Amino acid sequence: MYIHPENQDLYLPWADRVFRVDPYPWYDILRTEKPVYLMDNGEYVLTRYEDVLKWLKHPLGTMHPGQGPWHAFDNTVLNRDGAEHLKLRRHSNKWFTPKLVNQFAQRTATLANEALDKYSDGSVLDAFHELGVVPTHSTMCEVLGVPDDDAGLIYRHFLTCTDALSPDIGKEDQDKAQSSFDYLFERCDYFFKFKRENPNAWPKGLVDDLIELIDQGELGYRSALETTVLFYGSGSPNPAQVLASILNHMAREQWIWETYRDEPDQRIAIINEFIRLYPAEMSLVRFVSEEVEVGDFTVPKGSPLRLMVGAANRDPAMFTNPHQFDHKRPPEATMHLSFGIGPHACAGQLISRTQIKTILDAIATKATRIEIGGEAALAHTDRVRGYLSLPLKVY
Ligand code: HEM
Repeated sequence: MYIHPENQDLYLPWADRVFRVDPYPWYDILRTEKPVYLMDNGEYVLTRYEDVLKWLKHPLGTMHPGQGPWHAFDNTVLNRDGAEHLKLRRHSNKWFTPKLVNQFAQRTATLANEALDKYSDGSVLDAFHELGVVPTHSTMCEVLGVPDDDAGLIYRHFLTCTDALSPDIGKEDQDKAQSSFDYLFERCDYFFKFKRENPNAWPKGLVDDLIELIDQGELGYRSALETTVLFYGSGSPNPAQVLASILNHMAREQWIWETYRDEPDQRIAIINEFIRLYPAEMSLVRFVSEEVEVGDFTVPKGSPLRLMVGAANRDPAMFTNPHQFDHKRPPEATMHLSFGIGPHACAGQLISRTQIKTILDAIATKATRIEIGGEAALAHTDRVRGYLSLPLKVY
């Protein structure tokens, strides 16, 4: 959506290109001057770590009434709270145990290695697509028990859906997001129909479990379908975006790459620090279920709080030298909020961390050096650290 520069919010110029790529200077000012900031659209924006943490966990901070086309997920974990949320969450959690995740990550490793074998001579590969989107999408398809074709297309559709979570969403973005939702729903509906008619044609997965729950009267079809779309769509975007941010940074700061390559015991800390610096989702929204006091404001029931994860993760009150990469922070200063926290904390956290490490380990095994191979095509919005491509040379 185009907003004339004169009409932009001074503290949060959401549509400004410079802001979208590097919003941190604005976040720093806002956190200091107006840590609770009421925008013209009625959202209360919170930037301090302690406030974001508090409201992600707060029982009065709910996911209802939800945002625009994202009502598509009203019958999933994402838009439910309380007992219903817990029940839905149990259905999928059993597919993401450490044991299963390690098993699924073998697919990630195979595909990352195949890509690296084609390019390890220093030719340029699109690391975002070939090392990020393809292996992670394919792995999620294995979890679901569905075919893994069209990774790039599914990524772009889900990215378009996430545009509808932006604070400056316009009618055009809403319509585009709706079309992408329609596409993903149609595709997943086909998966259910195909599996019913050909029960043994594809490997079993989470979708088969959902079909069983429907047959037992435990789950409605709509809820099963929405859940499938949620996992099918989320399989690649966030992990691939975080991976791209990591590679983009490491290729420019060789010492980090060399540490990753040569000191395996530092790898988990390095990945965690990058996830703090580059959260895939820069803000999350909660709606207050009662009138509450937030900072100097009396916030009416039903109002949205926009919780700025990107700003909280770089709050100097929590992280010393917050804009610096430092994988040796003390344990109490590594608790970033990139995966959310509280009841709605990311259900894909373990599989994402495992996949990111699996892919970086594959590079570290095959390559001695990585270099930037050209300009990355960024699809950063005010809300996501999106990528379209990341040219990389691997030697
Ligand atoms: C690096 C990768 C990822 C990041 C940074 C990330 C981030 C997040 C965040 C911040 C939330 C919290 C939303 C909120 O509180 O409003 C969330 C929730 C969620 N994520 Fe992820 N995500 C990632 C990967 C994935 C993957 C691969 C999946 C698929 C398995 C996934 C599935 C979910 C689901 C289902 C929820 C909702 C959980 C609930 O409401 O109970 N995520 N994610």
